[in-house]
Amino acid sequence: MLSILKNAWYAAAYSHEVEAEPLARTLIDQNAVLFRGEDGAVGMIVNRCPHRFAPLSAGKQIGDTLECPYHGLRFNRSGHCVFNPHAKNKGPLRAADIKAWPVMERYGIVWFWPGDPHRATPEALPRVDFLEKPEEYALVRGLLHVRGHYELVVDNLLDLSHAAFIHPQFSGGNYTAEQLLAATSQRLERREGSIVNHRLRSGLGPSSAHVNLFGMDAATPVHTDTTMTWYPPAFLDFAVGSWEVGQERETGVHIPQLHFITPETEFTSHYFFVNGRNRRQNEPEVDKAMLDFFDLAFGRQDEPMIEMVQRNMGTVSDINELDPILLPTDAAPVSARRMLAAMIAAEQAADAGPGTAGDNPARADSPALS
Ligand code: FES
Ligand SMILES: [Fe+2]
Repeated sequence: MLSILKNAWYAAAYSHEVEAEPLARTLIDQNAVLFRGEDGAVGMIVNRCPHRFAPLSAGKQIGDTLECPYHGLRFNRSGHCVFNPHAKNKGPLRAADIKAWPVMERYGIVWFWPGDPHRATPEALPRVDFLEKPEEYALVRGLLHVRGHYELVVDNLLDLSHAAFIHPQFSGGNYTAEQLLAATSQRLERREGSIVNHRLRSGLGPSSAHVNLFGMDAATPVHTDTTMTWYPPAFLDFAVGSWEVGQERETGVHIPQLHFITPETEFTSHYFFVNGRNRRQNEPEVDKAMLDFFDLAFGRQDEPMIEMVQRNMGTVSDINELDPILLPTDAAPVSARRMLAAMIAAEQAADAGPGTAGDNPARADSPALS
């Protein structure tokens, strides 16, 4: 069974994916539909009409509502059935109300909140420095489908020692894995509500993207920062930058990134990544080269590895159940898993107590005919 932290924002879709047509997507094991009303605001409701279970995503948007394609009930963004063409007064049908999730848009992403709607405040989403400075960074965005539990993707990002083995192109093939690991220092910092894995490689040349796309000299020693800041449940603010040894950090080429992994099901995930760059901002061919670079690294190297790992784990989604051995480089993923597990356990304990805050009103079991 999929176990998640409920009181947190999760990425549902890129804003540009939710335009004229409703968007159907499985998120946290639930069929959802996203749609944008006439006023431009986005809603996310259950993608199943409570009458004969037609998918609302196959329906039409009418004003700020979505009309069921089968018999015409209309639902607003709060999940209320506000129009019933079969009633004399065409009025609302409260018994047909369906679940809606709080949503908001930030950083070109539609975020949804699975937990208590009263706690769904914009401040609960971490701020990402480079995404607050559109004048300084050009952006490209990608979305991958990963056939693995979402925490396996987080593990992958919090232990970047794998890069020396499965992403040889990052170093242009100039260094062995042992050289790359020996030149990298790592320091784990546990903060209130986040974990920072500081990671700095010094004295080797820059990565191939910095050389091939941004003109850095492959032989000039640089500092390369790959510090990752994790916020629960799966929000990763990734600093990627290289600057010459002896120079200031600000002089370097920086490719900062936001990664977010939303569980689709227990064993599959949506992997959102937004990548910035502070050089060659207005060149579409560089956009394409960046996307190709990330497609290779995340889509054709990380994803198949995570998929193979998940397959080896069988029907287990929590890797700790299988008693993995640990290496020093596992400190960050292990710490993140512990923090998340404690938060989920606290939520579940609170939910099990009396008087817990509920989700949006679910529909009544017996439909009222009119
Ligand atoms: S299935 Fe939606 S109105 Fe009948
Ligand atoms: Fe990777």
